[in-house]
Amino acid sequence: MNDATIQALAAEAPGIHGHQQVVRLAVNTIAAARGLPEPWPIDLPGDAAQRVVALLAGLGELSQWGAAELGALREQLLASEDRSASGAWYTPPEIAGPLTRAALSEITDLHLDDDPSDVLNVSVLDPACGGGVFLIAAARLLASAYAGVLYRTQAPAPLTVRAVMADVLKACVYGIDTDPVAVDIAKSVCWLETSGFVPIDWLDSNIVVGDALAGDTPPALAGRLSAAGPLAIVGNPPYRDKAKGAAPWIEARRPGPRDERAPDELWRPSLDEFRLPGQGRIEYVLCNLYVYFWRWALWRAFETRLGAAAVAFLTPSAWLKSPAFAGMRAAMRAAADRGFIVDLTPEGKAPAVQTRIFPGVTLPLCAAVFARRRGPCPQTPALVRVATVTGSREEKFQQIEQLLGAGSCRASPRPAEPARHGR
Ligand SMILES: C[S@@+](CC[C@H](N)C(=O)[O-])C[C@H]1O[C@@H](n2cnc3c(N)ncnc32)[C@H](O)[C@@H]1O
Repeated sequence: MNDATIQALAAEAPGIHGHQQVVRLAVNTIAAARGLPEPWPIDLPGDAAQRVVALLAGLGELSQWGAAELGALREQLLASEDRSASGAWYTPPEIAGPLTRAALSEITDLHLDDDPSDVLNVSVLDPACGGGVFLIAAARLLASAYAGVLYRTQAPAPLTVRAVMADVLKACVYGIDTDPVAVDIAKSVCWLETSGFVPIDWLDSNIVVGDALAGDTPPALAGRLSAAGPLAIVGNPPYRDKAKGAAPWIEARRPGPRDERAPDELWRPSLDEFRLPGQGRIEYVLCNLYVYFWRWALWRAFETRLGAAAVAFLTPSAWLKSPAFAGMRAAMRAAADRGFIVDLTPEGKAPAVQTRIFPGVTLPLCAAVFARRRGPCPQTPALVRVATVTGSREEKFQQIEQLLGAGSCRASPRPAEPARHGR
């Protein structure tokens, strides 16, 4: 995006409130261009709003904008120091789509003669949802599966998928973010996906401003967490080292030694489960926001529930090999049945820009899915497969699609029962 235009927008409408107005005006412009009602009320003087709209027009053909473009606008509006503090790098759809699909195929096995409510029982949560790119990926996959089961077809028509989108979003899709502007974008892209069939506040209790690491949960999800329906936690949580103090709830030590703990001490996640005896001097690296998110997600998905669950995150890859993360790896394998890791940066630190998933991120990254079909079985560690992608960013996207996109959460015909031979 044009730097001068972004700076003019930030000057015209500064701060969180101003950025919120810029994003809302962008969404209203997209809606109007698609013949939809303008969803957001605007709280800017009329002439300032007109100047913002004129500046936005300089950013390209807004009618085609979706989660990626609105997310990029948010990224650009954030001053660079805010961006590194909150870790706001929004994920390209080329990764969010396959990673979400991989998580859903691990926990759903849909057949055309299933009850449609089986689809509506699936919950997908992005606990640091940014502009909602993972939420949209989940909504599209689940709406297609729902329409397929509802009308008993493997290839539902796009209009049919759109018609069920609002119900699927309301039942299945949840997000949290500390950034109110990001939450507005996430709600807006979901609203656009429904073709404006519902009011913009339709998802107010599904996608909320909050701190996932403090235990905040979207109110609409809270009641479903203890139900048996499958849960997928997906996303690209923030990365920041030396994060001590960012999540006291998770950082706090357990009171007693591991083998003397009462089972109900697991009412909260603790980094203690990522620590190993004798490793204290090197485990300072666990004080990173993405490690806190992994610890929180394992607890939420596997330790507080018995049903099928998956966690699929894009994060730095330091945890794959370093001895300091041995406890984290062991905890992941104990919690899940299966794991699949894709090393996205085999080149190592600060690779050539054209090979990076995020041009501005120099850290090596990986995508990982850990899943469990049912019940805990900590004595049998998860089998973990590892793959690597190489080449330019676009070549990596193609390999990711092949590696992670092969599974499908679509409904398929039920396999025939093996023939029974009578006596
Ligand atoms: C790397 S961005 C990813 C956003 C989105 N998941 C994506 O992939 O495009 C990380 C997001 O985490 C949010 N965030 C940071 N700390 C958070 C917390 N404690 N709880 C919820 N969101 C948080 C930031 O505001 C930012 O939008």
